[in-house]
Amino acid sequence: MSYRVALIGAGIISRNHLNAMRQMSELSAAAVADIDEERGRTVSGEYGIAYYSDYKEMIRIEKPDIAIIALPHFLHEECAVWCAAQGCHLLLEKPMALSVKQCDTILDAVKAAGVKLMIGHTQHYWPANLQAKALIASGELGKLVAIQDTRHLYYFHHDRPAWFLEKAKAGGGILMNLGAHSIDKIQWLTDSRIRKVKALLSYEGERGDVEGGGCLFLETSSGIPAVVVQSGYAGVPKDETELIFDHGMIRLVSAKGLWVSRNGRYEEVKPQDSLDPFVLQFEDLLRSIRQDAEPDSSGEYARSVIAVLEAVYRSDETGDEQSVDII
Ligand SMILES: NC(=O)c1ccc[n+]([C@@H]2O[C@H](COP(=O)([O-])OP(=O)(O)OC[C@H]3O[C@@H](n4cnc5c(N)ncnc54)[C@H](O)[C@@H]3O)[C@@H](O)[C@H]2O)c1
Repeated sequence: MSYRVALIGAGIISRNHLNAMRQMSELSAAAVADIDEERGRTVSGEYGIAYYSDYKEMIRIEKPDIAIIALPHFLHEECAVWCAAQGCHLLLEKPMALSVKQCDTILDAVKAAGVKLMIGHTQHYWPANLQAKALIASGELGKLVAIQDTRHLYYFHHDRPAWFLEKAKAGGGILMNLGAHSIDKIQWLTDSRIRKVKALLSYEGERGDVEGGGCLFLETSSGIPAVVVQSGYAGVPKDETELIFDHGMIRLVSAKGLWVSRNGRYEEVKPQDSLDPFVLQFEDLLRSIRQDAEPDSSGEYARSVIAVLEAVYRSDETGDEQSVDII
C-alpha cells in the first residue's frame, strides 16, 4: 500500500522530508501548506505537489494518510490535535510541544482518533548514532561512568526565522531547539531517562528574549552523570558527544562519524552503509502504522524530553536542582 502525505510548513526542514519521500515507493507527497505564499509555492514547484495557504483546507481536500507538521513550536499542539481529529497519522517535528501539558493534550487527541504519532527525533536514525548505541549496548567498553555533550553554533544569525528567538513562540532558545537533540541523544543512547537536572543559562544574544547558551548537569535513571554545554554566541562550531566508560571511550561527532578508544587513543569506526536518516524515520513510522505499534520516537517518549526541558528552565529560574517525573 502507498500512503499519501501532506506537509504543513515549507520551511528549512521541509526539503529533508520531501527528499526522503522521493526515495520511497510507499510514500507519495501530495501537497504542502504554508502561510508564506512565496515559500509554499517554491516548494510546491520544486517537488511538483499542490500548494495551499491554509493547512486545514489542504487536509480536508487532500485527505492524506499522513500529515507532517513542521511548524513553529507554539503551533505544534493546535495543529497536531486538529490533524489527528481528521484521521491523519502524524509525523510531528521536535520538540513535541511547549510543555508537558500540551504533550498530554496531543497524546489524548491521538489516542481518541486511533492514529499513530511519531516525533521527529532524528538522532535515532543517524548511522553513527546507531553504531554508537550498539557499541554501548554490547558492554564491550565496560561500565558507562559519564557523558559530555557540547554544541556550539552561532544561533543569532540573521537567516534564523524570528520566531526561534521569541520565548512565547519557540518555548526557549538554543536549549529548547538544539538541547532537545542533546537530551534525546543522551536518553536514547543509554536507554534511560533523565531524572535530575541542574541548569544555568545565559541570555546574551543580540536578538529576541531566549537563552543563548547554558550548562546542564544531568543524572540519568541509571545514575549516570551527563554534562551538556551549549553556546549560541560567536565561537568555534562544535557538535560532539563523548561517552566515558571504565574500559574505553566513545566520541560521536555529528555529521562526521564515530571514534572509539580501547587503549588510550581514539580510532575511527568504519562508517556503515546506511539510508538517509529521514528515510529511516519514515520507515519507522510506516512500521508503526502497519503493525499497530509505537514508533521508536513515540509521543510518550518525546514527552519525556519536554519534561526535562521544563526542568531545565525551572532549575535556571529557581537556582535549585529539579527532579523529573519519569513515567
Ligand atoms: N529534526 C531536525 O533535525 C530538525 C531540523 C530543523 C528544524 N526542525 C524542527 O522543524 C520545525 C520547523 O522548523 P524550520 O526550521 O523548518 O522552521 P521555519 O521557520 O523555516 O519553517 C516553518 C514554516 O511554517 C510556516 N508557518 C507558520 N505558521 C503557519 C501556519 N499557521 N500554517 C502554515 N504554515 C505556517 C512558516 O511560514 C515557515 O515557512 C520546528 O519544530 C523545528 O524545531 C527539526
